[in-house]
Amino acid sequence: MRYGHFDDEAREYVITTPHTPYPWINYLGSERFFSLLSHQSGGYSFYRDAKMRRLTRYRYNNIPADAGGRYFYVNDGGDVWTPSWMPVKADLDHFECRHGLGYSRIIGERGGLRVETLFFVPIGEDAEVQKVTLTNTSDAAKSVTLFSFVEFALWNAQDDQTNYQRNLSIGEVEIEPFTGTSSAIYHKTEYRERRDHYAVYGVNAETAGFDTDRDTFVGAYNTLGEAAVPFAGKSAGSVASGWYPIASHSLDVTLEPGASTSYTFVLGYVENPSDEKWAPADADAGIAPLQVINKTRAHELLARFATTEQTDAAFDALVAYWTDLLSGYSVTSGDEKLDRMVNIWNQYQCMVTFNMSRSASYFETGIGRGMGFRDSTQDLLGFVHLIPERARERILDIAATQLPDGSAYHQYQPLTKRGNHDLGSGFNDDPLWLIAGVVAYVKETGDVSILDEPVPFDNDDALAAPLFEHLTRSFTFTYTNRGPHGLPLIGRADWNDCLNLNCFSTEPGESFQTTENKAGGVAESVFIATMFVQYGEQYAELAARRGLADVAASARAAVAEVREATLSAGWDGEWFLRAYDFYGNKVGTDEKPEGKIWIEPQGFAVMAGIGTEKPADGGPSVAERALASVNTMLATDHGLVLQYPAYTSYQIELGEVSTYPPGYKENGGIFCHNNPWVIIAETIVGNGARAFDYYKRIAPAYREELSDVHRLEPYVYAQMIAGKEAVRHGEAKNSWLTGTAAWNFVAVSQYLLGVRPEYDGLVVDPRLGPELPEFTVRRRARGATYVITVRNSGGTGARLTVDGTPVDGTMVPYAPAGSTVLVDVEV
Ligand code: GLC
Ligand code: GLC
Repeated sequence: MRYGHFDDEAREYVITTPHTPYPWINYLGSERFFSLLSHQSGGYSFYRDAKMRRLTRYRYNNIPADAGGRYFYVNDGGDVWTPSWMPVKADLDHFECRHGLGYSRIIGERGGLRVETLFFVPIGEDAEVQKVTLTNTSDAAKSVTLFSFVEFALWNAQDDQTNYQRNLSIGEVEIEPFTGTSSAIYHKTEYRERRDHYAVYGVNAETAGFDTDRDTFVGAYNTLGEAAVPFAGKSAGSVASGWYPIASHSLDVTLEPGASTSYTFVLGYVENPSDEKWAPADADAGIAPLQVINKTRAHELLARFATTEQTDAAFDALVAYWTDLLSGYSVTSGDEKLDRMVNIWNQYQCMVTFNMSRSASYFETGIGRGMGFRDSTQDLLGFVHLIPERARERILDIAATQLPDGSAYHQYQPLTKRGNHDLGSGFNDDPLWLIAGVVAYVKETGDVSILDEPVPFDNDDALAAPLFEHLTRSFTFTYTNRGPHGLPLIGRADWNDCLNLNCFSTEPGESFQTTENKAGGVAESVFIATMFVQYGEQYAELAARRGLADVAASARAAVAEVREATLSAGWDGEWFLRAYDFYGNKVGTDEKPEGKIWIEPQGFAVMAGIGTEKPADGGPSVAERALASVNTMLATDHGLVLQYPAYTSYQIELGEVSTYPPGYKENGGIFCHNNPWVIIAETIVGNGARAFDYYKRIAPAYREELSDVHRLEPYVYAQMIAGKEAVRHGEAKNSWLTGTAAWNFVAVSQYLLGVRPEYDGLVVDPRLGPELPEFTVRRRARGATYVITVRNSGGTGARLTVDGTPVDGTMVPYAPAGSTVLVDVEV
């Protein structure tokens, strides 16, 4: 069952009913100002940091869900309704929400009035723009009153939800009548003292009235759906003083039959230099100094959206921006689901995860986590081809939080860019992901200068060293910190945040990630070993390319040693072990009744080329055996579960993993992030058909028909789909902010479709089985365009013709910027 459909031409998902199983959201903004917006107009806005600069208020865990957002109310001769359905929930004759790339349109129609609101954050602006178009679809003239509504958060989102004894006395606003360009309400709480920023909510019209006090607008005991002012049909002109500041304008609108009119509302963030905070004192007008905020910048902002033409031009620029970004990689395959994932939605999600890390979604409150070291470095893998300059900046920010011994702060804060002390370090996979991100960047751009860029350790300039030195320390840290089997020590956890082998927690509420009640220096991770082989080899190759032959040789010797340890101490017989615990016992072994096999090392070992050699007898390789075990034990119709069988009771020596009921999250859920590791692995051993099959099981567009089971957005990946032992197998949770986006884009674009950037050229080596007989990939790389036409019979071993000349191997050398290269592929 579906709740809408894709409109690929417009690059939109069209939700046709308000009654989706869960709020289905979109993100506005891609630079500094961001909004979350559900199909019912719920959500909130913030400037750069979802915790420290929250503009509008949103209540997580609310009843009903998703009550809180920016709303427009219509009073049509006493009939009060909201075009987003929520919060009034009056029946609509028509409802439609079109989520597009950086914008959404919500359309509601009732009683012969159609109201369409286009929400977007224009490129270069720190503001959410809302273009509201009212159309009289009846055959009589209509006079209605339109009310806008936003509720302000008092900036620090955490304090805003907890510190009422102070906050209910500090709210302040200013109201500005029509200037000739706009009517505006300013939220200036704390501006009188240490803040130099305020919010503005304006509309490009003369208004009939305003409200800024929530209790007046809503009514003390009402829900938003019963808001007093819209039902009264008239603004009350309330002025907030403490309590709950809001901004609402009302507009009286008269429309002849068939007529339309549009208004532009702007919710903006304005920062003033500290010596320009205040409007000049004006004794004649009775204005005292240091009382009235300097609105110059706000006026400039509102003036840029004074007319509908200006608003439309800003929207066109946003559309053009995305058209350009997405033209870097596209496919025409005859499979519309594949095309829409690759060309639109997966790349879009990569941009959003790059921007948000794991901070703000409908499952992340924006007050919990900063930017993750491991998360953000992996996000780069799916983002780097979109805007390489921003990837470069991100790499340098992240590397600056690395510690001098090569370990890393697990998170850093986006405003300060400093490592987060509360969480500290000790996640021993973190350092290696830096190599992954940097290598992906250099392969994409050819910009080796980044390796010489001086970068601080622990944000201390005195400790700065070239970025390449950071990679050396990542490598060395991992190699040095190994346990009894020669495998890397796990520390607090590796990629799997819930495998906490030194934690032994009996305290309710104690953090599994930061508690180490026993630190034996023994617990080892086979997964980090596979990462070390993969990224250690990449480090060695980079060293060799820098002319550091000795460094490369000793790195390769270290990698060989860990490869051997993985094949001996890390092999259980039919699959790779997951770890050795605090006592030196095996984790992920057939010897145990539960948690026999874990997905992470299977996919990653094969990616790293561990055990891929065919044995002399021609039987299956170690890699193939591991992947066959994945197929029999982990595969379900809804994707590959993380481990099996899930734990049914608390295993204190394993940490958080078994705290989840069987089938959820890390305890046997389908953790979509690591499915692509197996997909890539299957392409490596030549099982393209199986790889493509796995891809389709979790890719949202292929799951659209199952929307009533899946329940979350059919256009973006979720972190988790409940596993086979879960009560609600197939149900997704935690959509949007997940490394799944980046890794699936890598899997589909670089391995299934098979076009991947290397140092000297693009490798073209598609492996997706026989299902698609013909497809064309267009790839921009280093300024040139490659048009790659594939005739596909489903095998491996692509034969390439480049600009009419057959070539050996699968590498297409980089061509000069501006050129177009035609590649014909037979496979
Ligand atoms: C979450 C975390 C990520 C971790 C994963 C597995 O998605 O953001 O860092 O690797 O869970 O535990
Ligand atoms: C929990 C979650 C995991 C997430 C972590 C973040 O352990 O299960 O997915 O990465 O919290 O700290």
